[in-house]
Amino acid sequence: MHNRNSVFIATSIDGYIADKNGGIDWLHSIPNPENIDMGYNKFTKKIDALVMGRTTFQTVCSFDIDWPYTKPVFVLSTTLKEIPEKYKDKVYLVKGTLTEILEQIHKRGYHQLYIDGGTTIQSFLREDLIDEMIITTIPILLGGGSPLFSELPKELAFVCTKSEVYLNKIVQNHFRRNRDNSNGA
Ligand SMILES: NC(=O)c1ccc[n+]([C@@H]2O[C@H](COP(=O)([O-])OP(=O)(O)OC[C@H]3O[C@@H](n4cnc5c(N)ncnc54)[C@H](OP(=O)(O)O)[C@@H]3O)[C@@H](O)[C@H]2O)c1
Repeated sequence: MHNRNSVFIATSIDGYIADKNGGIDWLHSIPNPENIDMGYNKFTKKIDALVMGRTTFQTVCSFDIDWPYTKPVFVLSTTLKEIPEKYKDKVYLVKGTLTEILEQIHKRGYHQLYIDGGTTIQSFLREDLIDEMIITTIPILLGGGSPLFSELPKELAFVCTKSEVYLNKIVQNHFRRNRDNSNGA
C-alpha cells in the first residue's frame, strides 16, 4: 500500500499558524458568507487518519463544538499520560520515533495521513517525511506566534502543482515533494 503524508494548513503571510497568544481567530479575518471550505472536504476524503501534536489536539478539545473528525486521530506527545475517556474510541496516543510511530499506524491499515500542528510538521520535515503540503495563506502579518516552519538539516525541493485564489483574497498553493533530483533527494 502506498504511503503518503500530507499537510493541509493555513498560515499568515509571515508563516505563523497561531498568533502570539496561541489564537487562531485571524483565520476567519476574511469574510466567508457562504462558508466555502477551500478544498478541505476534498482533502479529507483522501486521507485515512490524522497525526497531530499534543498542542493542536488540546486546542481542538477546547473548542465548544462536536468532535470534528470522522477519521482516527493519532496524537504525538511525550507528556500526555492518557487520552480523556470521551475521545477513547477516536483518538490514540502514540510514542516513539517518527519511523516507529508511522510503522504502528501503517500496520493498523492507515496509509494516507494528514499531519497537523507546527512542531509536528517541523519534526516530519526534518526527517523528510512530508510528501505533500497544501498551504492556504491568510493576508495578515501576525508579527510572531507559532511558526509553521523551522530550520532543516538540508534543503527539500517541492513542485507547485496547483495555485488557487479563494474569495478573491486568499491564496492556496499545493506543493508536492520533488525527490527526483540529486539535490535534496
Ligand atoms: N493555522 C492552522 O491551520 C492550524 C492548524 C493546526 C494547529 N494550529 C495551531 O497551532 C498551534 C499548535 O502548534 P504547535 O507548534 O504548538 O505544535 P503541535 O505540533 O500541535 O504540538 C506540539 C507538541 O506535540 C508533541 N510532539 C510533536 N512532535 C513530536 C514528536 N516527534 N514526538 C513526540 N511528541 C511530539 C509535543 O508534545 P509534548 O510536549 O506533550 O511532548 C509537542 O510539544 C496551536 O495553537 C493550534 O491551534 C493552527
